[in-house]
Amino acid sequence: MFRTEELVKTFGDGPERVEALKGISLDIPEGEVFGIVGHSGAGKSTLIRCLNLLERPTSGRVFLDEVELTGLSAGELRRRRQRIGMIFQHFHLFESRTVLGNVAFPLELRGIDRARREARAREILEIVGLADRAHEHPSRLSGGMKQRVGIARALAGSPRVLLCDEATSALDTRTSQQILALLREVNEAFGVTVVLITHDMEVVRSACGSAALLADGRIVESGRLTDLALEPASALGRLLLPLRGAPVAADETHLLLTVADVAHGSAALSRLARDLDVDVTIRAGSIERISAQDVGRFQVALEARPDRAAPATDAVVRYLTDQGVRTEVLA
Ligand SMILES: Nc1ncnc2c1ncn2[C@@H]1O[C@H](COP(=O)(O)OP(=O)(O)O)[C@@H](O)[C@H]1O
Ligand SMILES: [Mg+2]
Repeated sequence: MFRTEELVKTFGDGPERVEALKGISLDIPEGEVFGIVGHSGAGKSTLIRCLNLLERPTSGRVFLDEVELTGLSAGELRRRRQRIGMIFQHFHLFESRTVLGNVAFPLELRGIDRARREARAREILEIVGLADRAHEHPSRLSGGMKQRVGIARALAGSPRVLLCDEATSALDTRTSQQILALLREVNEAFGVTVVLITHDMEVVRSACGSAALLADGRIVESGRLTDLALEPASALGRLLLPLRGAPVAADETHLLLTVADVAHGSAALSRLARDLDVDVTIRAGSIERISAQDVGRFQVALEARPDRAAPATDAVVRYLTDQGVRTEVLA
C-alpha cells in the first residue's frame, strides 16, 4: 500500500544540519495495523509526514498503491491525499465548531453540500460512539472523546489508510486501550490500513500486526510481531518480549525457550518431564500478549531426577524443538 525508497530528509544547513531520515526503504502492506516504533528523536514524525508529503523528502520516493506521490503535480497530490486520513497526539480540533462541524469539515473542503456532509458525519459519529455528542464543543469532551472526534474526522472522507502520530500518548492507559480497540475495529470492519507511530511498546503489542523499529533515522528491523518476538536475536523481539535473565551457576545447564503460545509451551514442558524423565525449573520468564497471542520467553534450568543420570542436553533440545518450542542453550 505504502512504499518508500531510500527516503532522506535533512533539516537546516551548516552546523545546524540535522539528517532526520537516512535512507528509509519500507513496505507497509495493505490491511495491516503497522507500527513504527522508536525513541524520541528517531525520526518517526518526520517519516509519517513524508508519507503524505506534508514534509517534502530531500531525496527518495514515496508510493501509494504503486502511484509515485513524489512525482505528482500539486493538484493530483491533493486528490490522492484524500485517501489518507491523519490523527494527532493533541487532536487538533476546532474549538469554534461543534463535534459534528469538526467531523464534517474535510467534506466541506471538498465542496460536499451541507445535508450530505452532515449525514455522513452523523454516520461516523455513530461508529465512534459519539452520536449523542454531535452538538457539543470539543472543550466539553474528555481526551478520549476528543480523539474519537479526531478519528471520526479522519474517517469522514473514507480514507484507505489512517496515519496516527502518537495518537494515544496524551491519554491514560485505559483510554489509550479503548482508542486502540477502536482503531483495530476500523481496520477490521472497513479494511482501513492503519500506520501507528509510537514510542510505547504496549501500543505496538496490543494494536499492531507488524512493525518497524526506527533508530537515528534508519530502519533497524521490520516484520510480523509474532515472528520477531520468537526470534531471540531480534532487537524488536527483545523490546516486545523483554526477559531479565538469571545467573547460570557453573554446574548448571540453562535453556532459553520461546513459545508462540504459552499454553502449548507449558504442555510441552510437562510432556518433557514425563517422556525424558527430566524436570525443568523456571529461573526467569516473561509472558506478553502480542497481536492477541500469549507469547512467552523462559530461562529454565535442567534438573536430573534423584538417582538418575542427568539428561543429555542435546536430547532435551531436540525434544522441545520437535514440540514447537524454540530452544537455545545458554552459555
Ligand atoms: N522542522 C524541523 N526542523 C529542524 N529539525 C527537525 C525538524 N523536525 C524534526 N527535526 C529533527 O529531526 C529529528 C527527528 O525528529 P522527529 O521526526 O520529530 O522524531 P520523533 O517523532 O521520532 O521523535 C530530531 O533530531 C528533530 O530535532
Ligand atoms: Mg514525533
